[in-house]
Amino acid sequence: MEILKFLHSYLAYLVVITVALASINSLIGLITKKEFGAKDFRVALFGLIFTHTQVLIGIIFFVLANDFSETPMGEIMKSSALRLKNVEHPMLMLIAVILLTIGYSKHKNMRTSASKFKILTITYTLALVAILAMIPWHIWLG
Ligand code: HEM
Repeated sequence: MEILKFLHSYLAYLVVITVALASINSLIGLITKKEFGAKDFRVALFGLIFTHTQVLIGIIFFVLANDFSETPMGEIMKSSALRLKNVEHPMLMLIAVILLTIGYSKHKNMRTSASKFKILTITYTLALVAILAMIPWHIWLG
C-alpha cells in the first residue's frame, strides 16, 4: 500500500511535466507551422505512457484503499474531501487519459503536420487542465 502511494505520488511529477511539455510543444508546432518530427512524436508518446501507468497504479491504489466498504455512498457524496478522493479525482483522471489516447491515436492517422499538431494541442491541453484541476495539491505538496 505504501509503495503504491509512493509510486502514485512521484509518477505524478512525470505526468504533469510530460503532458505539459507535449501540450506546449504541439501549440508551438502549430503556431510556427513546423514539420511534425520524431521529437514531437516522442514527447506525445511519453505523456501518454506515463499517464496510462499512473492511472493503472491509481486504480489499484483505489481498489485496495476501498473507502466504499466503510462509508456509505451518501456520506461520500456529502463530504467534499471524500467526494474529491473517491469520485472526482478518479473520474476526471480517467477522462484525461481517454482524451490523451484519442489525441495520440488520431494524430497517427493524420497526414499533415498542422492537423497532427492541432489534435494534440486540443486533447493534451484539455487533459492537462483536468489533471491540474484534480490533483489534491494540499496532500501532494503539503
Ligand atoms: C493522470 C492521472 C493521475 C494523476 C496525475 C494523479 C495524481 C495524484 C496525486 C498527486 C495524488 C496525491 C498523492 C500523495 O499522497 O502525495 C493522488 C492521490 C490519489 N489518487 Fe491519483 N492521480 C491520477 C489518477 C488516479 C486514478 C485514475 C485513481 C483511481 C481510480 C486515483 C486514485 C487516487 C487515490 C485513491 C489517491 C489518495 C487520495 C488521498 O490520500 O486522499 N488517481 N493522485
